[in-house]
Amino acid sequence: MAEESTNATLSNLATESRSFPPSDEFAAQANATAEWYDRADSDRETFWAEQADRLHWHQKWDKVLEWDAPFAQWFVGGKLNVAYNCVDRHVEDGHGEQVAFHWEGEPGDTRTITYVDLKSEVCKAANALTELGVQTGDRVAIQLPMIPEAVVAMLACARLGAAHSVVFGGFSPGALRSRIEDAEAKLLITSDGQYRRGKPAPMKENTDEAVKDTPSIKHVLVVKRTETEVPWTEGRDVWWHDIVDRQSDEHEAQPFDSEHPLYILYTSGTTGKPKGILHTSGGYLTQAAYTHHVVFDHKPGESVYWCTADIGWVTGHTYIVYGPLANRATSVMYEGTPNTPHEGRHWEIIQKYGVSIYYTAPTLIRTFMKWGKEIPDKFDLSSLKVLGTVGEPINPEAWMWYRENIGHDKCPIVDTWWQTETGAIMIAPLPGVTATKPGSAMRAVPGIAANVVDESGTPVGPGGGGYLVLDKPWPAMLRGIWGDEERYRETYWSRFAEQGYYFAGDGAKYDDDGAVWLLGRVDDVMNVSGHRISTTEVESALVSHPTVAEAAVVGASDPTTGQGIVAFVILRGNVAQDEGKGADAIKALRDHVSKEIGPIAKPRQIMVVDELPKTRSGKIMRRLLRDVAENREVGDVTTLADSSVMDLISEGLKDGGKSED
Ligand code: PRX
Repeated sequence: MAEESTNATLSNLATESRSFPPSDEFAAQANATAEWYDRADSDRETFWAEQADRLHWHQKWDKVLEWDAPFAQWFVGGKLNVAYNCVDRHVEDGHGEQVAFHWEGEPGDTRTITYVDLKSEVCKAANALTELGVQTGDRVAIQLPMIPEAVVAMLACARLGAAHSVVFGGFSPGALRSRIEDAEAKLLITSDGQYRRGKPAPMKENTDEAVKDTPSIKHVLVVKRTETEVPWTEGRDVWWHDIVDRQSDEHEAQPFDSEHPLYILYTSGTTGKPKGILHTSGGYLTQAAYTHHVVFDHKPGESVYWCTADIGWVTGHTYIVYGPLANRATSVMYEGTPNTPHEGRHWEIIQKYGVSIYYTAPTLIRTFMKWGKEIPDKFDLSSLKVLGTVGEPINPEAWMWYRENIGHDKCPIVDTWWQTETGAIMIAPLPGVTATKPGSAMRAVPGIAANVVDESGTPVGPGGGGYLVLDKPWPAMLRGIWGDEERYRETYWSRFAEQGYYFAGDGAKYDDDGAVWLLGRVDDVMNVSGHRISTTEVESALVSHPTVAEAAVVGASDPTTGQGIVAFVILRGNVAQDEGKGADAIKALRDHVSKEIGPIAKPRQIMVVDELPKTRSGKIMRRLLRDVAENREVGDVTTLADSSVMDLISEGLKDGGKSED
């Protein structure tokens, strides 16, 4: 994190004194009260045991927590089936006719899926997966658009005790391949195509490229979505409608150990290789369901809930699939982009289904701001009761816009801080209790412990800033990095090893009242539109291009996307410099990154330079590059091996070599 931008953020925060308590009416009907904090503090394990009791256990646990740092086991000895908890038990309890999903396709087609329908689909899919050889303990890769089959596929895996690894639909074949290889997935579930801004785009063509050379994959199961013509490998490829539709809709869910793997989800770290974050069953589902219940004030059978995330990210896992379904939610699921076919699509959907809880990302709120308040003003948003945000810090201006123009000053806003690794929400207001401040995630939810510490691990206390740590194990915590125990210890537990703290990688500050303000990553991880991308990953993609000798990437602040990717590249000696700096050459580089990783990693801007600022030990000083990228006066250069480098860069940029959208 650039010191200058941190200081700017800190001084903005110092002036933020507005605070919005819930109305008496809201507080009176809320799922959680202030007393929950005390109850959780006085006996955390009993508190979590009460939360776990909201689930159905085939066999009750013997012990709440076994903590052998940094490895936790929650609800030891307990057995449950996650899919049974999310689907079957609601049908058995007489709620089979309740809608689980109002699904809205991008072209305007719709599907209504009740809990009975969902149970039947999940059972059929579980039978089909079994026929394709999937067994308990296997891994299944899923790359699908936002269609109901994505949820069904995940639940079918959970039902069988096979871990799924969902890969975001925008990731490149190379990114999919490396994830399949790392997890040694046996099956890939994908679709013929996907709708992108009103047009069908191919999907299977890409996934075929990914599985060209992945011996672990035995079958590719293909959902028909766009009717796009697809390449076909006989014997390996199977249509979903051919195999799933003819199965029995009966399937008995087996109980699995509370610590049985549920899924792997890959996320960017500070190196080029994504980390396979492992989540298990009992503790994860407990915290997913609990947080969804208290943070969104969800009322089963009454609320209409919509989380706008993609299934390919952790928010989609925990707050489209597992948390809401465990709580018998009626959800909206939307396939497409927010401006297809018009910029009021989200508000139209809220009006159509009477959405009461809406959970989205700050970057989208800032985009809505840009499009103008006149757009939501045209729709009836009076059904809304709670608004949520996730994925990146929300600036007070966007928070206030959201409150006034979407929530009409009556909906509590819950800014929820968490990570792929934490599995579920950790820091967020309780909407019926907390007087919220625009831009603050406020405080850890009952049962969760977080702290802000300085370099030496000492708590900073009210008014102080430093590093965010989690100082006690929590039920939904990651259980490791798939196949790499050492990296798990090193990444999360080495920074404050002495104190035994989990280091989240984020900077944070307490205000004088003790509310937590998140300040962004303090490592080499960028956050672009709420998506985590590592600088090294983009650098590796750039140097894999034949014209690039060296690359350095930084996240520069961006008014809409939070951060934008800015790359500095040195061209190879044999590349004609003028040509290499030309608009076509730079476009080719940006496209190359998009092809290597996916469009979300495409640099906003690429600058061709002759030198990069390095310390005497050869480490790139990104702080200085960030100054250039953010058009600031360049900071202290005294630790550079060659202090004239920054002058050269600034001079060089004046004569071109700069390109952006
Ligand atoms: O930097 C924090 C930011 O997103 C990171 C986690 O990214 P990911 O694992 O992709 O999960 C995103 C969705 C849970 C965090 O380390 N972040 C997430 N939520 C917030 C946030 N930063 C500030 N405020 C938030 N509410």
